[in-house]
Amino acid sequence: MSYFDRVSEAAEWLRGRGYGGADVGVVLGSGLGDFADGLADALAVPYHDIPHWPAAAVIGHAGRLVGGTVRGKRVLALSGRAHFYEGHPLTTVAFAARVLGTLRVPHLVLTNAAGGINTKFSTGALMIIDDHINLLGSNPLVGGNDERFGVRFPDMSEVYSRRLRAIADRAADAIGLQVEHGVYVAVHGPSYETPAEIRAFRTLGADAVGMSTVPEAIVARHMGVEVLGISCITNMAAGVLPLPLHHDEVMETTRRIRGQFIALLEAVIERL
Ligand code: HPA
Repeated sequence: MSYFDRVSEAAEWLRGRGYGGADVGVVLGSGLGDFADGLADALAVPYHDIPHWPAAAVIGHAGRLVGGTVRGKRVLALSGRAHFYEGHPLTTVAFAARVLGTLRVPHLVLTNAAGGINTKFSTGALMIIDDHINLLGSNPLVGGNDERFGVRFPDMSEVYSRRLRAIADRAADAIGLQVEHGVYVAVHGPSYETPAEIRAFRTLGADAVGMSTVPEAIVARHMGVEVLGISCITNMAAGVLPLPLHHDEVMETTRRIRGQFIALLEAVIERL
């Protein structure tokens, strides 16, 4: 079965169970899955029930899709995502975004945990992604192009919608939250970066570094979905502070700021 057919089957399966017609999709980054618990009229499905969806082993235990309502908007929230560092092709990593695009979800909010490269940032800050640099060494569109998804050479001059970034700024203002803006660089991982790499990325114009988001953003744009990206700066990147990096710090920071993060997401969704 072709990739297009697998994506279509997953989308049809979800449509048949009442997950069609959503106003926005939200991909929840590491430690940010709680947002899905606050949805009204929530209807959850574990990833392993959805045909062709990347296996739970790839994603971690909490993999589930939750449909529900936030401030009158129908939301599909994805708690848990596949990462490139797990060894899977980028087409697998981007499968969920393909399915949301096939379901004609008009807006996709991609969230992640990221290391702060910009020394003006502090741990716990939220950064609206203005643009990205793809250092994954590959692209989810590599291989034969299926024109039913989009064109062979899609434009990437505004991956993160200017309109949605302005909405995010207004939403942050309305709830009295200060947000940062910047460029997200995606790396393969799973090792964290060296201080020399972080200095290099700073020179390249990056403000934050992480191991996700870019594959989903590229396929979403390929399909004409409007994208917003929000990074939680869970730690300062390697060498910024004289401290080793540890995944526990990433989880601890997301725990600390999840209230603000959820408030921002809800305020954004209200304004879509
Ligand atoms: N580097 C890469 N990915 C990350 C980091 C980091 O410092 N923090 C959270 N995700």
